[in-house]
Amino acid sequence: MKVTVVGAGAVGASCAEYIAIKDFASEVVLLDIKEGFAEGKAMDLMQTASLNGFDTKITGVTNDYSKTAGSDICVITSGIPRKPGMTREELIGINAGIVKSVSSSLIEQSPNTIIIVVSNPMDTMTYLVHKTTNLPKNRIIGMGGALDSARFKYRLAEALEAPISDVDGMVIGGHSDKGMVPLTAHATRNSVKVSEFLSADRLDQVKEDTKVGGATLTKLLGTSAWYAPGAAVSGLVQAIACDQKKMFPCSTLLEGEYGLNDLCIGVPVILGRNGIEEIVTIKLSDAEEAHLKESAEGVQKTNGLLEL
Ligand code: 2OP
Repeated sequence: MKVTVVGAGAVGASCAEYIAIKDFASEVVLLDIKEGFAEGKAMDLMQTASLNGFDTKITGVTNDYSKTAGSDICVITSGIPRKPGMTREELIGINAGIVKSVSSSLIEQSPNTIIIVVSNPMDTMTYLVHKTTNLPKNRIIGMGGALDSARFKYRLAEALEAPISDVDGMVIGGHSDKGMVPLTAHATRNSVKVSEFLSADRLDQVKEDTKVGGATLTKLLGTSAWYAPGAAVSGLVQAIACDQKKMFPCSTLLEGEYGLNDLCIGVPVILGRNGIEEIVTIKLSDAEEAHLKESAEGVQKTNGLLEL
């Protein structure tokens, strides 16, 4: 199993690190345009192998796509991250050009690859990959919901004063401050609805804290977060590589599901060796459905800024 991660910045390097630590891939290629940068990160990570106990071989390359040839899965993290006060949507101008050229270079070398898009604005970048490549829809996956759901579970555990492993929950919708739809009515603590433990006001607070999860970190760190994004990507990569048939909310091209068409947005999907093997349709409350519709309108507005 060969995995390529494009972009050796904090997010890309974290992806490579978590993939390697989980030790299911034979090879991870880290590619960056900055001379020597990916090579340095790869070497540093390889020097953790004996300490962390993994055999995955990580190699770094400067913009040499021939070294990515035959990748089963490619992760695109390249582009600029947001700065404090910026929305993910404001990155579209620069990142669209980068994502378009990176995806075409990757597919040239690995025509059978599955692509995971991390670059922001993620739902629109995922749609861009659909529009500019001829990959089938099951092989184009946007990473947002897995990360947003992890942040949701963190906030739920905090409110419940419970361990995170006791908590389950999912965030669907667009990967944006306004667009995320945390499914509070479906969230559980040991299979009991969290509404049994938390007041409606406290749940609303959890929802709001989840939606600005990335922005809160950007303000604290001065740039966007990397550990949880890296870990979320590694979860998707592992589910595909190991054919786990696990359910994650991912951005995928909708063709009528949830009453939505011609956009990529986060909904639950089953991930296995073929990428997105199924789009799962769940029953939403009226409020959740209305929020998803509003979220889709936001994503479509950003898609409208693409020069296709
Ligand atoms: C975040 O929410 C990177 O968009 C990503 O942190």
